[in-house]
Amino acid sequence: MVAQRRHSLTDDLLSDLIRAEDDGDRLDAAELRMLAGGLLLAGTDTTRNQVAASVQVLCEHPDQWELFNQHPELAMRAVEETMRHSPIACGTVRLVVEDVELDGYIFPAGTMVLVNTLAANRDPAVYDEPDRFDITREWAPAILTFGGGVHYCLGAKPGEARDRRSTEMSSAAGCGNPRTTGPAPWKPIVSLSGPKSLPIEFDSQRSSPT
Ligand code: HEM
Repeated sequence: MVAQRRHSLTDDLLSDLIRAEDDGDRLDAAELRMLAGGLLLAGTDTTRNQVAASVQVLCEHPDQWELFNQHPELAMRAVEETMRHSPIACGTVRLVVEDVELDGYIFPAGTMVLVNTLAANRDPAVYDEPDRFDITREWAPAILTFGGGVHYCLGAKPGEARDRRSTEMSSAAGCGNPRTTGPAPWKPIVSLSGPKSLPIEFDSQRSSPT
């Protein structure tokens, strides 16, 4: 695709990356491949796993699904809450570049820090009853599922939007009483996690067949 686009640029992201120039410097083929591959992985594995995880937690809380069905305007809060309660990205990594003290702990330069964002999302000092799944939480502090700071997820907005659209669409399509019909084991949480498979069934709210 890179070779093709070099001959005829379009309005897509790859063409924009080829056009991009910084002080006369342009991305070479290897850099373009690395960026395109990285974006593909970062943008697809994450969202499909998170959509499954979000649907699962809604299946396990039928009262919350019903509430969402009655109040589709809660969609954004529902997305936030499913991602706080059941995130598929459970941590992020930082390298300490200079000695730093935080909360009485010294982190010497060169230390690799694995930040447990899963635990942070359930911190009782931050969230009221953190283990409770509640799509009506108001003024909840920002979740850490998309990381934070300069490396904050580039796709946080499209990621959330896709997730929201999926749940909205399922709701609009008339999925009533969704429930899991078998085990939904999760992948290890060290990298990208989420259900390996998620067997579900639901009742059609438009007509009788399921
Ligand atoms: C639900 C979906 C997603 C989740 C849970 C997620 C999660 C994350 C996390 C935890 C990070 C690390 C942030 C940090 O270290 O502070 C990250 C970075 C990143 N994400 Fe996502 N992501 C999602 C969707 C996407 C999508 C759709 C794209 C692309 C369109 C994307 C592109 C990226 C990129 C490029 C980075 C690296 C940013 C940097 O290092 O500056 N992500 N994401």
